[in-house]
Amino acid sequence: MTEAEALDRLKASKNCKDICASAVEKAFRSALNKYGTPEKALDAAKERLHALSNAFMSEGEAKKARKCLKAYLEGDASALTEALKCHASTRERLDALEEIYGRVFALTGTDGGVLDLACGLNPIYLGARGIGGVCGIDISGRACAIVNEWAKACGWDISAKLDDVNSCAFPGTYRLALCMKLLSVLETDEKGTAEKLLFRVPAEFILVTFPTRSLSGRDVGMEKTYSDRFESLIEGKFVILDRFIMARELCYTISGKR
Ligand SMILES: C[S@@+](CC[C@H](N)C(=O)[O-])C[C@H]1O[C@@H](n2cnc3c(N)ncnc32)[C@H](O)[C@@H]1O
Repeated sequence: MTEAEALDRLKASKNCKDICASAVEKAFRSALNKYGTPEKALDAAKERLHALSNAFMSEGEAKKARKCLKAYLEGDASALTEALKCHASTRERLDALEEIYGRVFALTGTDGGVLDLACGLNPIYLGARGIGGVCGIDISGRACAIVNEWAKACGWDISAKLDDVNSCAFPGTYRLALCMKLLSVLETDEKGTAEKLLFRVPAEFILVTFPTRSLSGRDVGMEKTYSDRFESLIEGKFVILDRFIMARELCYTISGKR
């Protein structure tokens, strides 16, 4: 198999066909550097892209999130919660959503727009909460399509764009950027990406969060590891305005000194 054939196969595969093409290509190139042959790179990139994106929302869950929209439009308010359960990250913080955002918005206000980096289904919650000017970005075509379907059907001022936060141009400037459960994912992929991203974010405030449990729910000392790394990464460059843990999510609201 040639490199070009392997890349085409990867792009067309069930797991990757909905993922942003530039992210698929980047994963393939990086796997090729590491493993040397197109065959091995194909398998490794598939696995990596799954861990980066589709592991958080399966095809079945995406279908369910769409069904929930129909029920929501027919007047079933609980369908919103059911839709948010379809992505692991919104599911994990479901019981604390009001508290987390209440605390963050008390500091940042709600005007001026929100840039939601690697958004998953999170913009749906913001739209339902009446927050406008929300621009989400995600490499998951599944997540972006669902957010945009909900936005259109409900008339909310939210949208999601299919792109890679590491390389895309950010549209506009924002009061608040959300960087929720993202830096840990990016750093596993490539060291140094978290810092680069934080300095490019065009927002006055940034909410940065980390999981304190693995996807399977295990406590493997993540709170201390992420706290230590993050606080030393931003020392002297950003100001920590607030730090708290809710729903097993370590949250920092920071603003830039730059
Ligand atoms: C752990 S989930 C967090 C989702 C959302 N931020 C939340 O907390 O509800 C990680 C998300 O990042 C997306 N993702 C991973 N790498 C990305 C990248 N380089 N650019 C944009 N999105 C990315 C995945 O598709 C997935 O939806």
